[in-house]
Amino acid sequence: MSKVHILDHPLIQHKLSIMRNKETGAKEFRELLEEISMLMVYEVTRDLPTEEVEVETPICVTKTKMLSGKKIGIVPILRAGLGMVEGVTRLIPAARIGHIGLYRDPLTLQPVEYYCKLPADSENRELIVLDPMLATGGSASAAITFIKQRNCHNIRLVNLIAAPEGIRRIQREHPDVDIYVAACDEKLNEHGYIVPGLGDAGDRLFGTK
Ligand code: PRP
Ligand code: URA
Repeated sequence: MSKVHILDHPLIQHKLSIMRNKETGAKEFRELLEEISMLMVYEVTRDLPTEEVEVETPICVTKTKMLSGKKIGIVPILRAGLGMVEGVTRLIPAARIGHIGLYRDPLTLQPVEYYCKLPADSENRELIVLDPMLATGGSASAAITFIKQRNCHNIRLVNLIAAPEGIRRIQREHPDVDIYVAACDEKLNEHGYIVPGLGDAGDRLFGTK
């Protein structure tokens, strides 16, 4: 069963509260999402393996640690996941970036795929899927299924806010995928929006409403 990691560092909570405020404009919303994504990925990658290397400092030769093992790939779910890319790549500049385009049909709430392009060597990478909102879980679950169909099986899911329904769905459909969230909210409303949530992440990020 996938583990759920709640990354509720005080800085993350503070920034997320500003994002939730409906008066916060697109510029500040974008900046905060980037900052929180950077803080989150620090924890998401806490268990990455390291290996001992020899380094010559100006003083002496010493043994020290560097990352080893699989390289990282990040996969934002379009559109809103794009807002998390910059924060993650600031900490992991060598990460390759794939994109999955999905939108949620407003009537059926079912995910509709319109784009999928992953790095050529994705199956050899640790993939971090990014999307600020995990509501019904339909979009994230479909994105993970597409990734698995391309023979990639080392996957982590990172969301800003999750609803219990979305978490349960990922745990049911992708029990091998750990979930990292800044907050787990109360529920979904009748339109499939997270309550209290922050509204429509894509629209707030890109100022489209
Ligand atoms: C939002 C969000 C997730 C999805 C979550 O995207 O960014 O991808 O909804 O809902 P779910 O868990 O019920 O699938 P949306 O479909 O609004 O597309 P957008 O990012 O292009 O605005
Ligand atoms: N997508 C969003 O952007 N917000 C929600 O609350 C649910 C789905």
